[in-house]
Amino acid sequence: MDISVVTTHPFEDQKPGTSGLRKRVSRFRQPHYLENFVQAVFDSQPALEGAELVLGGDGRFHNREAIQTILRMAAANGVGRVVVGRGGLLSTPAASHLIRSRGATGALILSASHNPGGPEGDFGIKFNTAAGGPAPPSVTDAIHARSQAITHYRILKEAVHVDLDHLQATTLNGMDVEVVDPVAAYADLMDELFDFHAIRELLAGDFRLRFDAMHAVTGPYAETLLVDRLGAAPESILRAEPLGDFGGGHPDPNLAHARQLREAMFGRDAPDFGAASDGDGDRNLILGRHFFVTPSDSLAIMAANAHHIPAFADGLRGVARSMPTSQAVDTVAEALGIPCYETPTGWKFFGNLLDDGRIRLCGEESFGTSSDHVREKDGLWAVLFWLNLLAVRRQSVETIVREHWERFGRHYYTRHDYEGIRSEHAEAVMDRVRDRLATLPGQSLAGQTVRAADDFAYTDPVDGSVAEGQGLRVMFESGARIVFRLSGTGTEGATLRLYIEQHETDPARLDLDPQEVLRPLIDAAGDLGDIPALTGRERPDVIT
Ligand code: G6P
Ligand code: ZN
Repeated sequence: MDISVVTTHPFEDQKPGTSGLRKRVSRFRQPHYLENFVQAVFDSQPALEGAELVLGGDGRFHNREAIQTILRMAAANGVGRVVVGRGGLLSTPAASHLIRSRGATGALILSASHNPGGPEGDFGIKFNTAAGGPAPPSVTDAIHARSQAITHYRILKEAVHVDLDHLQATTLNGMDVEVVDPVAAYADLMDELFDFHAIRELLAGDFRLRFDAMHAVTGPYAETLLVDRLGAAPESILRAEPLGDFGGGHPDPNLAHARQLREAMFGRDAPDFGAASDGDGDRNLILGRHFFVTPSDSLAIMAANAHHIPAFADGLRGVARSMPTSQAVDTVAEALGIPCYETPTGWKFFGNLLDDGRIRLCGEESFGTSSDHVREKDGLWAVLFWLNLLAVRRQSVETIVREHWERFGRHYYTRHDYEGIRSEHAEAVMDRVRDRLATLPGQSLAGQTVRAADDFAYTDPVDGSVAEGQGLRVMFESGARIVFRLSGTGTEGATLRLYIEQHETDPARLDLDPQEVLRPLIDAAGDLGDIPALTGRERPDVIT
């Protein structure tokens, strides 16, 4: 089959963000747009020649077409073998596991995570390396540089169509293509990590759960794991069928977008445990009956309870959180006598710490937690961790969280998002705060003394690489913090995020409304960044 060498010109907007290249579907469907980026990956990653590449996506609109294009390009670029999930589906953590378990050289994962899908929605692509995780900045920089100098891409001439709907092995112009079950290997891995016997016993009793797959990729994973292997009732899974437009929903596992789940968990006769995942299956939302577990608390509780889980029988060694994530896990790490690393936002920054064996558990405020079993965050893994814990402790989610607060104190936490604001307005807020950083230490804000303030920079302890400009921190003597940061995952305008936390150990003050407890700090942050004047917004769009 002949190969076309197609002449092309760079697109200026192909710089990967926090997690790959994400754009509107219409942008991705322009002639040459996807092709340029994929060719930039092949050009900058010569190790893929003759090697194995994992390929799959979250099933969103344009997934199948993109996979066919990538297969034709992979064959034209000398890739040895492509392993693709049936139906073009692979959750992000399952793709990470496939890379690692098969010794593949990398993966192309098609997803815009929790962003809406459909013809008017978003699409995305990211490259994961042989370790299984998202490409580090050195690799994404190389891909970006190549995309800005590209003149040609290679693709098979004929528009062949690989049948993705049946498990099969075939060849495409000499390249092996293997269509694999997207769930099986991942489900086997989960079985090794957790006590499935204990969870089965829990679910065989009167314990009830709900899992909202949000019409995204986790439906088949949840059905195999929770229903087939663990015995949950089939009606436990909501919105199980993956749909190209996620049924018109927004596959972001939070209380606003998982409405049906919220109503079940906060209504009458609520189940014992509720959870949801996002478009590509790497995020998790954890709920108890009438109870919301913040992602930062969930991470801390996992660290404090890891000894109950078979996978962690040998201990944790260390833990990590992204900078804006609350310091609840730091408190647990201190009690356990293990290190706690603070990394910039973005899962890729955990990669070296996991590879180097410095940490075994990590998480982020943005509804992501995972361990060293893969190199991505992992939604169903978090769900199974909690189920295993509930099976061992036989207490409610709420009791487990409250006992945790009694022991370690509660880190009151909130995130305020100002969405879709003009980039220059967002930058103006950041500039304003940045300009004031040096003057803040020693000052009193919201009745508390500022200990330090900085523009967060991270030096990777494993390879010495430095990431600068990762968010503005105002740290108080009490341990409270205000953080300003711009989102790196949006596709339109800018999103300003304000993260606020304060530690409370007084047993009489553990059951308050976070917005009230944090109000003085929230107001101080608004003044510090002059947010209403500089953005024209009186209040945030989303509060979590
Ligand atoms: C993605 C990444 C996460 C990160 C999150 C932050 O989900 O995989 O690692 O925490 O984006 O997004 P933001 O919009 O705050 O940059
Ligand atoms: Zn995701």
